[in-house]
Amino acid sequence: MRIVLLGAPGAGKGTQAQFLMEKFGIPQISTGDMLRAAIKAGTELGKQAKAVMDAGQLVSDELIIGLVKERIAEDDCKAGFLLDGFPRTIPQADAMKENGIAVDHVLEFDVPDEVIVERMAGRRVHSGSGRVYHLVYNPPKEEGKDDVTGEELSIRPDDEEATVRKRLAIYHEQTKPLVDFYQGEATSGNCQYLTVDGTQAVESVSVLLAEKLA
Ligand code: AP5
Ligand code: ZN
Repeated sequence: MRIVLLGAPGAGKGTQAQFLMEKFGIPQISTGDMLRAAIKAGTELGKQAKAVMDAGQLVSDELIIGLVKERIAEDDCKAGFLLDGFPRTIPQADAMKENGIAVDHVLEFDVPDEVIVERMAGRRVHSGSGRVYHLVYNPPKEEGKDDVTGEELSIRPDDEEATVRKRLAIYHEQTKPLVDFYQGEATSGNCQYLTVDGTQAVESVSVLLAEKLA
């Protein structure tokens, strides 16, 4: 099963990816997590990406496409994968098609911008795994600690309000056109397209996805 998660920053892609990867036994490919890991490891890619990400801008299509192609070629992706944060521009979606990477389901999370700004203020992450929490809506079992490793949670550098608003503007300009793109693909019978109300509680969204994908 090959799934694309589509939605604004903070719409809940990473949160539902955690649920879906367990439910379907497929790996999550989060380009944001891959870039953050590269920054942490101090690689050349990380050095190039850091300033761009901190400013809420998009990393170049060329760089991202190369990264995803390499990842999808790995053995654990043979039975399927969950793309979280990719594609995010029309050239990225075109590159997938050109490389013969088909998609079965596109799941769009619909959440208004103001809800997102509030969500981001309460987000906490485990940087080692990419697991994500919210102080109120999805709190960890022990305050400030990751449920699995017990390690400290942190705040993402791009979650400051001004940067979130910048990311939302870029989403509307560069990523939203993918809604039409994939609805067109669905009309042509190339994939199934599903829009989910992402303002519902985390568990309700998961239940809905499980029903629709069963
Ligand atoms: P990336 O890491 O992909 O960030 P994003 O798309 O901006 O999305 P987020 O991770 O912020 O949000 P999410 O939808 O995963 O929400 P989450 O589940 O965490 O990318 C970061 C940067 O990397 C980009 O800005 C760019 O620079 C670069 N990049 C990455 N991919 C790229 C690409 N393809 N091309 C170019 N550049 C790229 O949830 C958010 C919060 O809300 C959490 O606290 C969560 O607990 C809470 N929450 C989730 N669901 C609910 C709910 N239903 N109710 C209440 N709270 C909820
Ligand atoms: Zn995410």
